[in-house]
Amino acid sequence: MAKTRIPDLQTRKKEHKKISMVTAYDYPTAKLADEAGIDIILVGDSYGMVQLGYETTTSVTMDEMLTAAKAVSRGAKRALLVGDMPFMSFHSSIEEAVQNAGRFVKEGGMDAVKIEGGQFSDVAHAIVRTGIPVMGHVALSPQTALLWGSYPVQGKDAAQARRILDQSMQLESAGAFSIVLEMLTAEVAELITQTLSVPTIGIGAGPSCDGQVLVLHDILGLYPNFTPKFAKQYLNLSAEILRALTSFKADIENEHFPTAEHTFHMSPDEQKRLRELIQTGSTPENKV
Ligand code: KIV
Repeated sequence: MAKTRIPDLQTRKKEHKKISMVTAYDYPTAKLADEAGIDIILVGDSYGMVQLGYETTTSVTMDEMLTAAKAVSRGAKRALLVGDMPFMSFHSSIEEAVQNAGRFVKEGGMDAVKIEGGQFSDVAHAIVRTGIPVMGHVALSPQTALLWGSYPVQGKDAAQARRILDQSMQLESAGAFSIVLEMLTAEVAELITQTLSVPTIGIGAGPSCDGQVLVLHDILGLYPNFTPKFAKQYLNLSAEILRALTSFKADIENEHFPTAEHTFHMSPDEQKRLRELIQTGSTPENKV
């Protein structure tokens, strides 16, 4: 399969073919997502929560995100790779935003970056001007968790819905190639999807979006703290891993592991030679 490019996503929207996107933060899962034919892999700042164990996404740093991005880019060769700009990597100045976006491309091997928050169309515009594609992200913004302390569904009242629609249009005008709609009422997500010419990718935003994204750990059942209502769990990997590790421990304690198939042997001749070396007190020269 050929590498997914930005114009391919535009075509998909025109042809009403849905776009798939998933988060990944390491080499093996990026490789698997690529093999599964997922269109876009997002190195999301959810990495901070589901993989590093921070309480919110606000703690994850640019350097931590880059480590994940590098691993993902080594694993995935076909999907479009998007690096999620973490909290405070694009908020203090346009210069810093552009520099950090550049790091995702030059050091992290990403094809594009995502910026969270509908109010940042000026930042999106500056990054796009350098030639780095930008994905927008409106409605719920987990990076504002410190301010609100919760994750409420967005777009329930007309005034808020109007603001989210306006922000989406501003991001499109700024050059964003796609926009994530997070935890947004299905009616507003549909309106935005119909209004924009760039594809929308929904997460808890109903079925009308041009594509859907989920956090990998929610799909696999690997995040122990909670599973959002909008997520669909396809596997209970936590239970599988627990089963495997419990069996491993029991095998060690019952001496069922390792067996002959996991064991290396020395030839009888070399064993004899070793005994002689020990008896004569001689130590052969170290070849290493
Ligand atoms: O970090 C992330 O996983 C995200 C998705 C929720 C889109 O931004």
